[in-house]
Amino acid sequence: MYDATEKYLQLKGKRDAVILGIESSCDETAAAVLVGTQMRSNVIASQIDVHKRFGGVVPEIASRNHTLAACKVVDEALQQAGCTLNDVDAVAVTYGAGLIGALLVGVSTAKALAMSMDLPLIKVNHIEAHVCANYIERQDLKPPFLALVASGGHTSILSVKGYNEYALVGSTTDDAIGEAFDKVARLLGLEYPGGPNIDRLAKNGKSVIDFYKHKKHVNKDNLLSYSGLKTAVVNYLHGCRQRGENVCVEDVCASFTTAAVDLLAETVTQAARQCGADTVVLAGGVASNSYLRAKMLSEGARAGFRCLMPSPVLCTDNAAMVAARGFFSAYENRNLASLDLNPVSNLRVGADS
Ligand code: KG4
Ligand code: ZN
Repeated sequence: MYDATEKYLQLKGKRDAVILGIESSCDETAAAVLVGTQMRSNVIASQIDVHKRFGGVVPEIASRNHTLAACKVVDEALQQAGCTLNDVDAVAVTYGAGLIGALLVGVSTAKALAMSMDLPLIKVNHIEAHVCANYIERQDLKPPFLALVASGGHTSILSVKGYNEYALVGSTTDDAIGEAFDKVARLLGLEYPGGPNIDRLAKNGKSVIDFYKHKKHVNKDNLLSYSGLKTAVVNYLHGCRQRGENVCVEDVCASFTTAAVDLLAETVTQAARQCGADTVVLAGGVASNSYLRAKMLSEGARAGFRCLMPSPVLCTDNAAMVAARGFFSAYENRNLASLDLNPVSNLRVGADS
């Protein structure tokens, strides 16, 4: 009979717990090994090339590719960390938010490993995991602080009150910022994922098109919206075509980026003020955007907060961040899952607090 309760209880306060993290919420199959928050390996099998020709992630294809890659990334993560399953203290897995079929593969893999080795299974919230990427590179980082998770699925401002305490203090009311980047890129004929391509082209463009004519004010409840911005780009491109004018793709990229990021940066600054936060951390794929990174650093210098951000490889989906989130749960004896754990596609921040 599987029972890992005893091993789980022994993890309380254990600083050097060895955590195997598993991530499969979207189009990256990933596994990583951490000792505490020290990264020993971080293996990512990206499916970008598979989904490119469809212009976005096809959920069913993503699930199938996760099943092909899951065991391989786990083996490689253990090998690179110089250990075996016998050295692992707990398995941490993303169980939401994300694509349900994709999540199911990671959760099933983690359950099988936990069961075969009698290891505790720790359930991890993907959005909170993104925040934890910051602890890996900044071993001195301690809560409380404010976090911005800007990704393909989320634009969330979180108040992080403790290692296991997350509260949502701001978000988008419609599209996520990464989704807007990807949709605008598609309109411009750029390859998926569009964010990095827009980032590259924006560097050679000028922010001369005013896409946010009517939307320049920060909402007092820290609510954002991106669907209108996307429509503004559609209308602009339409107008150019009708008038037979050439479109300067670089200028569209630069103008869109400024519109998408400036209001977000102001909103995060307002939230930091409201929460009395002296540290703001960035997370999620869009946090690797060069304009967003520079803008948040200058906002921090202006408004008086320290702004931290992970290296780009830890901004986009990875399993090291999942293992880090799992470590803090294990350390405080939280979020033990049983073998009937089900993935939750629309999991909310703080659902496990
Ligand atoms: O965090 P992530 O890997 O997956 C989700 O949890 O969604 O984020 C992926 C998103 C995509 O929308 C991608 O276009 C965007 O992050 N992204 C970027 C950049 N790199 C990735 N957006 C803007 N600039 C970038 N440099
Ligand atoms: Zn993500």
